[in-house]
Amino acid sequence: MALRLGDFAPDFTADSSAGQINLYEYLGDSWGILFSHPADYTPVCTTELGAASKLKGEFDKRNVKMLALSVDGAESHRSWIKDINETQNTSVDFPIIADEDKKVSELYDMIHPNSSESFTVRSVFIIGNDKKVKLIITYPASTGRNFVELLRVIDSLQLTANYSVATPADWKNGEDVVVSPAIKTEDIPSKFPKGFKEIKPYLRMTPQPDLK
Ligand code: BEZ
Repeated sequence: MALRLGDFAPDFTADSSAGQINLYEYLGDSWGILFSHPADYTPVCTTELGAASKLKGEFDKRNVKMLALSVDGAESHRSWIKDINETQNTSVDFPIIADEDKKVSELYDMIHPNSSESFTVRSVFIIGNDKKVKLIITYPASTGRNFVELLRVIDSLQLTANYSVATPADWKNGEDVVVSPAIKTEDIPSKFPKGFKEIKPYLRMTPQPDLK
């Protein structure tokens, strides 16, 4: 059965551009982002890996380990990384899984046969530090992903893991958040000392609680 939010991320050991990797050992106590690419030496994937690589410092700040995947081999990945570094002006500093036997792709349902029989689609899995799947998104091969958006989602996931809040449409780190519907309005002042605004009984906003 396909993976769903809240499931444990399946562990695996696989070859990669940086040698053999075990997912759970690689993640340790960190969060993780696992994202698949259709194939090496393809134009959109090259730009995506460049974009992801340039944001590695931002993923690091959020304690998120990065892990890419395609169904090509490790030697191919290592040569392709040289092209990515050259053309995207970066230095890819996270492993790309070499999923030649498609073991990981199948475990994570990254091959959608009605889209492509043999290549992975652009899947993204965000894995919490409890090893559970927090986010799944799937893009087609023809559309490159927005890694800044993925950082935004991680900010929301990490905030809402620690506070009884949710983040509204287009929210960005630093903006007001929604008080969880599970919190009674009379309990808000003690839980959210920065104050709150009741727009409707079901729509209560409060300043982002983890900021000074
Ligand atoms: C690409 O990464 O450029 C790509 C890969 C597969 C199909 C279409 C585009």
